[in-house]
Amino acid sequence: MKGVYKAVKISEHVHWVGAIDWNIRDFHGYTTRRGTTYNAYLIMADKITLVDTVKAPFEAEMFSRIASLVNPEDISIIISNHSEMDHSGCLARAVEIIKPELVYASTMGVKTLREIYELDREIVPLMDGDAINLGNMNISSIETRMLHWPDSMFSYLAEDKLLFSQDAFGMHLASSERFSDEIDDALLVYEGATYFANILLPYSSLVLKLIEKVRDLGVEFAVVAPDHGPVWRKNIEKIVDLYRTWSLQKPAKKAVVVYDTMWHSTELMARAIGEGLRSAGVRVKLMSMKDNHRSDVAYEVLDAGALIVGTPTLNNNIFPTIADVMTYLKGLRPRNLVGAAFGSFGWSGESIHYVQELLSEMKIDLVGEAVSARHVPGPDVIEKCVALGREVGEKLDERVV
Ligand code: FEO
Repeated sequence: MKGVYKAVKISEHVHWVGAIDWNIRDFHGYTTRRGTTYNAYLIMADKITLVDTVKAPFEAEMFSRIASLVNPEDISIIISNHSEMDHSGCLARAVEIIKPELVYASTMGVKTLREIYELDREIVPLMDGDAINLGNMNISSIETRMLHWPDSMFSYLAEDKLLFSQDAFGMHLASSERFSDEIDDALLVYEGATYFANILLPYSSLVLKLIEKVRDLGVEFAVVAPDHGPVWRKNIEKIVDLYRTWSLQKPAKKAVVVYDTMWHSTELMARAIGEGLRSAGVRVKLMSMKDNHRSDVAYEVLDAGALIVGTPTLNNNIFPTIADVMTYLKGLRPRNLVGAAFGSFGWSGESIHYVQELLSEMKIDLVGEAVSARHVPGPDVIEKCVALGREVGEKLDERVV
């Protein structure tokens, strides 16, 4: 079982025994251009404890890292903080190989793990605040339901002031460095924001409550160890503050113009709207869905105040790429946005109405009249597009405090 992979010490009693997935590029619809890590941790307590496992294809890497430190059969306890398969994928094998005395998960975790796996072991449910005795130290559980599955929980190791935060405070970033302070700050903020926008955005209000809940516990954090990306041992307050900012989604003078185009008509309209926005002092991001991924749009929407969507009418409907990105964004439930629709058509022109419906379903406040062009936008339509951009800019002026 020993191999080339080694455990990495991250605090006095805890080692990282996870895996690096350099090549993953799709994470349930989110493009992960820099890969990811699946972080598992070993607590070297009297009762040696494994916190989470890794995605199934990385079993050998995890066990190699464990075996660089201890005989896997010496592990007494496994804690599953999150049942999603990128963290529980090796749980059944871990139970088989390690034969732990006890396996723990949250109440919902027990249910979910039972639904996913046939585990030859009872899983002990943990309630919020329950503590597990590891012999010479204790680990306590903090329920974080819906962050980002119903089963999710944190674990806190008081001896090392270490929070195992599963998906929270993580990012999809494969790196040889294990700590955030070894990685470029701008990259951390970019990948952290992309991860938040694509994974945690629908649960923003819960993130805010969770930050308050953890503060109310009055515990100190020296290390935050998420299930993806680097471990935080410095500037922890910075990532917490960023989470607070991203969760609040305060309206900003930034507009994302998302569009696709058949014969460049809708594109001409998008550019004119962008010019109108710019002339009103709005930061603009024009995103053709031929050239951008839906998860890049989610990233840009995270700190925007407006979402403007353009599509030609195709077969009495919207363009498939626009249906894709709108379905994705609707699920992510961005808040505090204003919006508008535009598009070109040949003879029927339904698309702008469908887009307006979608924006309304997303609780996005519509601004102005939707602009449409038959075949090719003439000067009058282009002027309407510029005016629509300006009108959205004026609305943002009213909303941004
Ligand atoms: Fe990284 Fe929700 O799993």
